[in-house]
Amino acid sequence: MMTLKELYNNKEQYSDQVVEVKGWIRNNRAQKEFGFIDMNDGSCFKNVQIVYEAQNLDNFKDIQKFRNGSSVQAFGKFVLTPDAPQPFEIKATCVNLLGDSLEDYPMQPKRHTREFLREKPHLRVRTNLFNAVFRLRSEAAYAIHEFFHSKGFVYVNTPIITSNDGEGAGQLFNVYTDSENPDTDFFGKKVYLTVTGQLHEEPYAMAFRNCYTFGPTFRAENSNTTKHAAEFWMIEPEMAFAELEDEENIAEEMIKYIIKYVLEKCPDEMKFFDSFVEKGLINRLQAVLNTEKFSRITHKEAITILKNSGVKFENTPEYGEDLATEHEKYLTSYFNGPVFVHDWPKDIKAFYMKLNDDNETVRGSDLLVPESGEIIGGSQREERLDVLLKRMEELGMNEATLDWYVDTRRYGGCKHSGFGLGFERLLMFLTGIDNIRDVVPYPRTPNNCDF
Ligand code: 4AD
Ligand code: MG
Repeated sequence: MMTLKELYNNKEQYSDQVVEVKGWIRNNRAQKEFGFIDMNDGSCFKNVQIVYEAQNLDNFKDIQKFRNGSSVQAFGKFVLTPDAPQPFEIKATCVNLLGDSLEDYPMQPKRHTREFLREKPHLRVRTNLFNAVFRLRSEAAYAIHEFFHSKGFVYVNTPIITSNDGEGAGQLFNVYTDSENPDTDFFGKKVYLTVTGQLHEEPYAMAFRNCYTFGPTFRAENSNTTKHAAEFWMIEPEMAFAELEDEENIAEEMIKYIIKYVLEKCPDEMKFFDSFVEKGLINRLQAVLNTEKFSRITHKEAITILKNSGVKFENTPEYGEDLATEHEKYLTSYFNGPVFVHDWPKDIKAFYMKLNDDNETVRGSDLLVPESGEIIGGSQREERLDVLLKRMEELGMNEATLDWYVDTRRYGGCKHSGFGLGFERLLMFLTGIDNIRDVVPYPRTPNNCDF
């Protein structure tokens, strides 16, 4: 048996040979004396056309009735068709039904709304769009591992169950077996699903110098937006002896690496997104690749640009305050591409960020991109033991539960920096898809965990 990928990659070699393929019917167009099955076997984005003729097949009448979605096996002659839209077809000598698909198969070859498809996450992956999205997701993940490994970063599996709130934003999911007594439950204390791998990773950076995590994170943010999921994946590199600029440089290099990788490894998928999801997508990504250096501005400068824009924003931009989505959009179009915003007001950022000499701002840096807005949140970490402890006290944090974390500042602490890339936000940026629910296989959002 051959995969379609193998056939597409070695067309000349298979010319006029007998081949066997297995896959799922995307479309069966039966005519009187012959018919065409478009079949996909999952090995690549493209389908194969199987031509079946009454004169060659005893079960011709059955094949005519094979329904979309069914799994089939076909044997036949591999024929190059240089004049047709598809480069080859298979002239069937035998087509067997492996698994029937019922009459009401919902993924018929017509345009469904994304909303409709979202209700069928287990079947939508058999459509062109979602097949492309989830192969891209796989390839992008691989690109990220390759990028960090090529630079000698060590991959750390940080825990999913944790007893602390890494970001201090209070958006935790509780974990318990006995909801009546969470304090004395399984772990003898309240525990949660992690919101970030960062705190557990920083100690590893003090041993490996450069490391990264890539895993699921969970946030009980009750914001029903197109960019927030309750369960999402994050890539978090952490680098010892690195300052904010180093962190931004690595982030930029990584983004460009991933873009290059998917354009090269997923040309069919990317062309599909370019035609059917966002016209001009490939040009937009090429332009990012060709940007010599992403723009970098301070939060203060960002607010000044917004204030001087003459635009009537729904949320008035203010020094000292967070950026709203509309502000992010304005800034990425103002800079015509990705832009790092750094040196944020300390009150709206996490406790671990390094305090600037002004005592007002911290060395945090967010990367904003067209389509998904904030895609990366990173910072130089506060390595000074006294400053960190003071900040934790100011915020009323329970120092005892994070004493182990503070040890990184007690025993050979050093300047270090890192960031978190939201994997789904990255995929939105790469595909042009504007809803996070459409880049997660089984999305978890408020009131939505049915599968
Ligand atoms: O900015 P955040 O909260 O940063 C951190 O968690 C740091 N500990 C990272 C670090 O320095 N190691 O989150 C990082 C990124 C965001 O920029 C965004 O892309 C994504 O994670 N993100 C979400 N993606 C989907 N749904 C959500 N609810 C998200 N919250 C954050
Ligand atoms: Mg953030």
